Amino acid sequence: MAFQNYTVAPLSKVQRLYDACDMVLSSAGMRMPATLGGIRWLQHLLDGMEAADVGIDDGEKPSLLDGDEPSLKSVGLLPAHGFTRITYVHIHQCRDFSIGVFCFPAGATLPLHDHPEMVVLSKLLYGSVRVRSYDWVKAPPSSSSPRKCGLARLVAADEVRRAPCETSVMFPRSGGNMHAFTAVTPCAILDVITPPYSEEHGRPSTYFNDVPIPSLPGFAFLEEVEMPQDLSVVGAPYLGPRIMVDMDDDDDDDDDFYDDHDDFYDEYGQ
Ligand SMILES: [Fe+2]
Repeated sequence: MAFQNYTVAPLSKVQRLYDACDMVLSSAGMRMPATLGGIRWLQHLLDGMEAADVGIDDGEKPSLLDGDEPSLKSVGLLPAHGFTRITYVHIHQCRDFSIGVFCFPAGATLPLHDHPEMVVLSKLLYGSVRVRSYDWVKAPPSSSSPRKCGLARLVAADEVRRAPCETSVMFPRSGGNMHAFTAVTPCAILDVITPPYSEEHGRPSTYFNDVPIPSLPGFAFLEEVEMPQDLSVVGAPYLGPRIMVDMDDDDDDDDDFYDDHDDFYDEYGQ
């Protein structure tokens, strides 16, 4: 019997990240907390990723692809340095996790916001960003008051992170679950969020003002505010390597969270 030679195309880094997320974070009908070992694996995979791996041109390298196989190639590259507003590149969302990239022009700020009951892994792909973050001293009950507020411990006090740096991890009660970003230079942050934001499941995004407490250095009082009027986040299409998705994933990938592609096309003519 003759055997034919088959070559198996290597997986793109974003496919490997998706597959690992699917393995570690998908509940498959029974919600189990992700293990710390699983989170560390995702952190390791994110550590090895660059902007080109998710179809973004950071303007740094002439060759932007992570392989020569057609399946690994992006269909194009987003010109991230041309962005004039915060731009969200949605890669994947299902019931258990989301993957996406926030691209910032220099000086743009994503105001202080929370990630209720979520684990967030953030990989700074390029550039520099100033981070301010807090954890609740005692998490405010979600239903006792019309607005969330409480005492919070400062975790990162306007700390500047510069790429390349390690992937950061925030847990529901530690690691800086409430954070604000200000781009020092144009920068991009690849986020894996588990579970994803969902108003329906009681995980809305809430914005806060932080009021320092002079008599208690390292702490602040956080009070919920409306989404700042001047916050503008537009959507851009994902142009990176195609991801093969697990069809049991209960994919609700409906692209409507920051799906303002028309704005993107108007602005960048793509
Ligand atoms: Fe965030």
